[in-house]
Amino acid sequence: MKREPLTEYGSAMKGFHWLVVGLLVVQYALGWTMPELRRGMPPEGLVNLHLSFGVAIGAVMALRLGWRVLTPQPPGDPSLPAWQEKAAAAVHGLLYLLVFSLVLTGWADASRRGWQVTLFGGVDLPALVATGSPTGRALGEMHEALVTVLLVLVGLHVAAVAAHVVLWRDRIMDRMMPHTRSRT
Ligand code: HEM
Ligand code: HEM
Repeated sequence: MKREPLTEYGSAMKGFHWLVVGLLVVQYALGWTMPELRRGMPPEGLVNLHLSFGVAIGAVMALRLGWRVLTPQPPGDPSLPAWQEKAAAAVHGLLYLLVFSLVLTGWADASRRGWQVTLFGGVDLPALVATGSPTGRALGEMHEALVTVLLVLVGLHVAAVAAHVVLWRDRIMDRMMPHTRSRT
């Protein structure tokens, strides 16, 4: 077995990664179980929670991106071929882009419905578009489409990680695990 030094993400990046995975599970569950939205209905219960969790995901992702840009990150694993390195970087970039797009399109949809978006009732956030805005409605339709696009992309990301664990049996998964099994 090769014993090249193990490069892994720092604990803050790992924390952000798994926190967002957990928040996204909650957010999808809320999106799919909240009642059918009708014109003029107020954002109550699960709907209100969906708005708050969505904004929280946006805030955590902004902090994560800031941390990623401002602190040193591990270089790509030296065992990876260049095409995999590039594919991984592209998918990671798209994951950030999609999560931010979901947050903004969902928020715009809430605003065009005339809903006050809050962070768990504590902080009132500004409207992104005017009530009744046709742009807001179009962005809301985009929100529903992006829900599926993000799922497909996460499926690709998880399938790639699974291939590293099951087929190639390398250390890629360890780079994001809370405690790595081997350290050199
Ligand atoms: C990463 C963040 C988000 C994810 C993964 C997500 C996911 C979802 C899902 C799964 C649905 C149900 C779609 C359907 O049944 O077709 C939905 C609908 C909705 N979401 Fe989000 N959402 C996110 C962020 C937000 C935010 C930040 C807001 C508002 C502040 C929001 C507002 C809405 C609204 C208003 C709907 C109903 C759209 C409609 O049926 O016309 N979402 N979202
Ligand atoms: C069970 C599900 C998941 C597993 C097992 C997993 C695993 C991993 C692993 C092992 C890495 C490190 C890859 C490397 O070193 O190149 C990674 C990185 C990454 N993952 Fe995931 N992941 C999962 C879900 C998600 C989800 C839902 C997202 C959506 C935002 C996501 C976004 C990212 C991003 C953006 C990176 C690059 C590092 C960063 O900027 O945080 N992952 N993931």
